[in-house]
Amino acid sequence: MLELMKNTASFISDRVNFRPQVGIILGTGLGSLADSIEVHSVLRYSDIPNFPVSTVEGHKGQLIFGTLGGKRVVAMQGRFHYYEGYTPHQVVFPVRVMKFLGIEYLFVSNASGGVNTDFKTGNLMVITDHINLIPNPLIGPNVAELGPRFPDMSEAYDRSLIDMAREIAAREGIALRYGCYVGGTGPTFETQKEYGYFKAIGGDAVGMSTTPEVIAARHMGIPVFGVSVITNVGLSGEKSTHEEVQVEGAKAAVNMTKLFIEMVRAL
Ligand code: HPA
Repeated sequence: MLELMKNTASFISDRVNFRPQVGIILGTGLGSLADSIEVHSVLRYSDIPNFPVSTVEGHKGQLIFGTLGGKRVVAMQGRFHYYEGYTPHQVVFPVRVMKFLGIEYLFVSNASGGVNTDFKTGNLMVITDHINLIPNPLIGPNVAELGPRFPDMSEAYDRSLIDMAREIAAREGIALRYGCYVGGTGPTFETQKEYGYFKAIGGDAVGMSTTPEVIAARHMGIPVFGVSVITNVGLSGEKSTHEEVQVEGAKAAVNMTKLFIEMVRAL
């Protein structure tokens, strides 16, 4: 696995000749942040050796290298989900590769269903903690070169980055919520009782991604900042659809993009 990561990273480095400082993962409906990147180069996942290929509608499947908020970034437009059938190791492979490319921070985004009953569709939630219910990507032999066998997760989401988000949002007039993201396997949306269960265990929003990538990043000591777009409200009794998630994601992407740009600038 380590060899594959290193080979993939050196393939990419040779191709793009660009050392990113920040990695960004764009979730469902949030790919438009990429329009704000001053693009240096783009690599399709299908052209990158050892990269899985994204299969979901609304996920483009490419790495975008360029400048955002005056910093060198690499953005994943489209990610790999456990529900697509990838192993947990495959899901986090790109995060491992981004570390070898040089990233010092990871910004993650996703679409989720609100289980906090104060939340409304279109809200942006800064992820302050998570509950991972997806098989852990660190299961298996530990690669000491990547990180420790038993990584600490007490500050999975970097507190100083959360404070920075609070300040920037106040300055820019962006309304933010804060809460705990539950990473479930999907691909089903939750039953009413499941939404209630996630609320009861301390979740504020539930989605089908992100926790594996955050675990891999923290394993490697990378500080993480995460934002979740509440695209539907789980306990409303309304039906949840992928189309709704894409539409609401696209609307909220405007504020999320503004927040990410200003945060990256302030790093
Ligand atoms: N549940 C799980 N994942 C999601 C949801 C949801 O309600 N909305 C967007 N992603």
